[in-house]
Amino acid sequence: MMRLDKFLSASTAYSRKNVHDLVKKNSVSVNGTPAKRADMKVDETKDIVCVNGKQILYRKFIYLMLNKPQGYLSATEDSKDPVVVDLVPEEFKHFAPFPVGRLDKDTEGLLLLTNDGQFDHELMSPRKNLFKRYYAELDAPAVPEDIETFAAGMDFKEFSAKPAKLEIDPDDPQKVYVEISEGKYHQVKRMCERIGKNVVFLKRVAIGNLKLDDSLECGKVRELTPDELALFGW
Ligand code: URA
Repeated sequence: MMRLDKFLSASTAYSRKNVHDLVKKNSVSVNGTPAKRADMKVDETKDIVCVNGKQILYRKFIYLMLNKPQGYLSATEDSKDPVVVDLVPEEFKHFAPFPVGRLDKDTEGLLLLTNDGQFDHELMSPRKNLFKRYYAELDAPAVPEDIETFAAGMDFKEFSAKPAKLEIDPDDPQKVYVEISEGKYHQVKRMCERIGKNVVFLKRVAIGNLKLDDSLECGKVRELTPDELALFGW
């Protein structure tokens, strides 16, 4: 059980003060009866709470998929550049979502946002060993030996990259897919530099078994479905 004003301010953009005003105006109902007090107790698991006739479902956490465009920082704020949170639709803003991990400013594709710290922690944990799949375009063709170089892992100044998978497009060897299970700074770009090629375009297409939704336009956000969350055991 919880207070009606808490239920509504957690689940919507209404503040507790807004909820008080709405209750005064008889705009809030609980199980079909107008609510008399904003501090009345409701059962968030079964009571039907409506504002202006529209049912509001209780929830504390939000899980969003963004198809990140280039030019945005994976951050919640920045004094100079646009940030991915700017792309979150108004209806989800009050949840204060933040990005799970990072993509470079010039990288596109799958980025998750949430306000659930435990979910973020779980996905970022090295223990989880979650692979991330990227599509990359190179400034020179990849060759079959590069696959072995990736598969052997690579040593960098501040870390050793675990064995990674490189797939070369048979029709155009400048197009490759890379799978890594870490996410160190510029990792894909640095691994490609090691094989003597520069990445000219980079897009993340999957995190573990979650694929970027092909129908989600660049710059758009949608909620993860329960089936998608279940892919992470959530
Ligand atoms: N590797 C990179 O080099 N850049 C990214 O944005 C993600 C992985």
